[in-house]
Amino acid sequence: MPDDLKLGFAPFSSLHGVLVVFCAQNLKFGPATQKALAPAGDLVRRAAAADRFTGKSGAALDIVAPTGLNVPRLIVVGTGKDGALKQKDIVKLGGIAMGRLPATAATATIFAESGAGAFKGEQVADLMLGVRLRAYAFDRYKTKRKDDDERPKKIEVNIACSSPAGAEKAWQRCIGVADGVVLARDLINEPANVLYPAEFARRASGLGKLGVAVEVLDVAAMKKLGMGALLGVGQGSVHESKLVVMRWNGGKKGTPPVAFIGKGVCFDTGGISIKPAQGMEDMKGDMAGAACVVGLMHALAARKAKVNAVGAIGLVENMPDGKAYRPGDILKTMSGQTIEIINTDAEGRLVLADVLHYVNKRFKPKFMINLATLTGAIIVALGQEYAGMFANDDKLVERLTKCGEETGERVWRMPLGPEYDKMIDSKFADMKNTGGRWAGSITAAQLLQRFVDKTPWAHLDIAGTALGSPQTDINKSWSSGWGVRLLDRLVEDYYER
Ligand code: BES
Ligand code: MN
Ligand code: ZN
Repeated sequence: MPDDLKLGFAPFSSLHGVLVVFCAQNLKFGPATQKALAPAGDLVRRAAAADRFTGKSGAALDIVAPTGLNVPRLIVVGTGKDGALKQKDIVKLGGIAMGRLPATAATATIFAESGAGAFKGEQVADLMLGVRLRAYAFDRYKTKRKDDDERPKKIEVNIACSSPAGAEKAWQRCIGVADGVVLARDLINEPANVLYPAEFARRASGLGKLGVAVEVLDVAAMKKLGMGALLGVGQGSVHESKLVVMRWNGGKKGTPPVAFIGKGVCFDTGGISIKPAQGMEDMKGDMAGAACVVGLMHALAARKAKVNAVGAIGLVENMPDGKAYRPGDILKTMSGQTIEIINTDAEGRLVLADVLHYVNKRFKPKFMINLATLTGAIIVALGQEYAGMFANDDKLVERLTKCGEETGERVWRMPLGPEYDKMIDSKFADMKNTGGRWAGSITAAQLLQRFVDKTPWAHLDIAGTALGSPQTDINKSWSSGWGVRLLDRLVEDYYER
């Protein structure tokens, strides 16, 4: 984030700083844009011809000091085919517009209009969402500015639209989602020496000011509950494990909540089955599932969603140590089932086993969705485009798939089945924590399924989508905050009264 990013809405008549406008294929501009560009005569047409710019989706035409216009620079961004734009396209356009601003720009105006005409209130807010998410950068630990850094400290971006007041209102509904994504990204980017379980719990407790009830369970409380799997993973760390339960009650009193569960491994060394050094620093992000749950709870509370929702995150650090759990150990979960440890690096499923059972038993939720950077194998299968989705409920699958397509946070269903389940049977305990090299993401999901009973449930393996700079037009950061928008949409479309 620039040190200071000021966002606002203005009428189409207001032109300050770099001007960004949109056009459809064949240089088709909306009426307000045409009017604003009229004083430049045929400048845009000539520049477009010279640059072979026609308005293809994502293409841009950059004109410095445009004659006739009182702006330092005009940037025309193509939207491609004419016609109605989908929500995710508009969010994306906001990101593209923000990304096209030259580094030196301190002020910019973005016209909220496509070839088909001016955006409506919610669309203007979606455009702003894209701007906000694209502008995100995690640079709080950069203390020095390079000498040749000409970026302004403050950036002001105004969106010009037909009803600034209406857009502002729509944005106030949308801003909670934007802030939720930013919160998730910040948590994920934060290094593990700063963000260990207690500090994570403290930050999650900040949701209290939005009206979220936050409980933090410590090791003693979890021992009492019998969470031997979660505690086993955390026992090699000097940082105490925590379980955070967040509740937002915006729905009818007494109706069962929807529940979101996150893997919060603040750092995953692999434990005694230690990981190779190469790339291990990325394992500070092994709490992305938990971060998404916190971001989502923020979003729901900020927009006062009419739903009862529970968010629960298991926070641990997986370290090699004299006290650490080892291969061969048998852990007893809160559900009573026992797990033989084959590999201490398969720790996320152990944490989730206890949290899923706990949430199911305590809240009897309408459904449970868990998010976890669970397996490297899901990255091999799906890359960074789709999260792996495993579920016992077709309706949930259908809804998640639809919301994924709409928000651009897409999910791809993977199989579950008794044949895979057999792969985690153990000689010594009820199950083992890994099923060998094959179908690694599926056997991990099979283990989770043993802790959800009949409750409708979906597991999203976000190892590929959450971390490692998944490059999109609305994110240039290492972490994406993946899942906040998807699940906010799911709640809004299907579970608010
Ligand atoms: N946190 C990792 C999975 C991961 C890998 C997330 C890469 C993000 C990027 C998880 O705890 C893990 O280590 N999984 C192992 C499981 C194996 C030991 C059965 C894996 O995927 O290799
Ligand atoms: Mn691991
Ligand atoms: Zn892990």
